[in-house]
Amino acid sequence: MKELFQATAILIVEDDEASRLGLFEFIKLEGYAVFEADSVSAALNILNSNNNIDIIITDLKLPDGTGLDLLRNIKEDKIQSSEVVITTGFSSVKSAVEAIKLGAYDYITKPINLDELGLIIKRIISNKRLIDEINILKTRLDERFNFGNLITSSKKMIDIVNTAVAVADKNSTVLIEGESGTGKELLANIIVNNSQRKNKPFIKVNCAALSESILESELFGHEKGAYTGADSLYKGRFEIADGGTIFLDEIGEISLKTQSKILRVLQEKEFERVGGNKTIKVNIRVIAASQDIERKVKRGEFRQDLYYRLNVVNLKLIPLRERKEDIPFLIKKFLEDFSKENGKNIKGLNKNALDILLNDDFPGNVRELKNAIEFMTAISGSEILDESMLPNYLKERSHGQSRPLKRESIEILNSEDYIKIPFNLTLEEAENLIIQKTLERNAYNKIKTANDLNIGLKTIYRKLNNVFQG
Ligand SMILES: Nc1ncnc2c1ncn2[C@@H]1O[C@H](COP(=O)(O)OP(=O)(O)OP(=O)(O)O)[C@@H](O)[C@H]1O
Ligand SMILES: [Mg+2]
Repeated sequence: MKELFQATAILIVEDDEASRLGLFEFIKLEGYAVFEADSVSAALNILNSNNNIDIIITDLKLPDGTGLDLLRNIKEDKIQSSEVVITTGFSSVKSAVEAIKLGAYDYITKPINLDELGLIIKRIISNKRLIDEINILKTRLDERFNFGNLITSSKKMIDIVNTAVAVADKNSTVLIEGESGTGKELLANIIVNNSQRKNKPFIKVNCAALSESILESELFGHEKGAYTGADSLYKGRFEIADGGTIFLDEIGEISLKTQSKILRVLQEKEFERVGGNKTIKVNIRVIAASQDIERKVKRGEFRQDLYYRLNVVNLKLIPLRERKEDIPFLIKKFLEDFSKENGKNIKGLNKNALDILLNDDFPGNVRELKNAIEFMTAISGSEILDESMLPNYLKERSHGQSRPLKRESIEILNSEDYIKIPFNLTLEEAENLIIQKTLERNAYNKIKTANDLNIGLKTIYRKLNNVFQG
């Protein structure tokens, strides 16, 4: 990797002396270090003796071969990690396209427009710097901040993860709090994987996704004939989780009645199936998660005694906007993952795209950033992602165009503030559309969407048809 004070070095390979001199003067004036060669062999000599050539600008037709030969040598033998720009007459554009396939960075047709060349050089330099920067981040990250799949460099987050790992092997109940997409489930996985219960059942229940009666059956099971339709015995999740761990996600959403039953499981480690009177004893570790349980306790919607029982170990995850230093690390990780998944070789993203991502507040936190990178990786045809590939909502947010809708005030609204509803929709379809659009606007933050629409979180889950997680 180059030290920052070293000038970018450029090698010109061109057999026509006048053209070579012209390029030489231009590049020197731009402040770069210049080398020159008039043949493939002369170029290879320079490359083999000088390790620091960043960019090679080569003619296609050379006396002892072609620019493609040179390119193949560089890419296959990995002599250097230089980027190659091909210069070519209009008649050989086809070969230039071939060159791109072989890994050339770009081609430029003769007569060379020096402004265009200057821009290409600048773009290569800024991309290279970004890749270098991300590589630096990567090595440092591997050493210190990688907790399995959870990536963070924020001091507060590291403390939280360390606490999680420290209590993993205890049987204490853990309450994980945090906004949507901050990694609550990921942290629960880490706790389980570091515990002795690792190879025992790990059962996840999304409490917000189920109506009260179904949730009771799911958690505690039911006896045959407990109610109409209960035509066989059904083991609940507490029972299935025996010996292992149960993850009660969105625990703030459960009814007061179910809360008291859960309190008993936590205190006595026992319960009865719905419609039964046999007491079932279980040995389970409970991990609970919620986005806003404290507010529910204050409002009397969540039992304080249960809250204290759950809150033996409290892990409060930090919103991404309060730890923006994590953004480049996360981007790097997601780029690697999604590139691999899509069979692409994406190396990084340009500065404009990075700036937009660094300036965003990410109401949907890490999940939203992850989705954005997945989207960009999927649509990109190049090795470097740029700002044009960002999802629209991020582009709009970066332009400051999206303003929250104010229910009370009537004002002249931007078109982005409207939802268009066709006349031929049923009321239910229209309702679904409104929920869907509001979710999109809120970056899939379900709590915010429920608040904006003044409906329950459960309704949103029902509409999303998202019955179980995990
Ligand atoms: N620090 C992190 N490093 C890497 N990936 C992360 C990190 N935090 C979250 N993610 C990823 O982001 C996504 C959302 O995380 P997760 O499902 O754990 O969030 P959550 O807090 O449970 O969200 P919700 O409240 O909406 O259920 C997952 O794909 C997860 O792997
Ligand atoms: Mg979750």
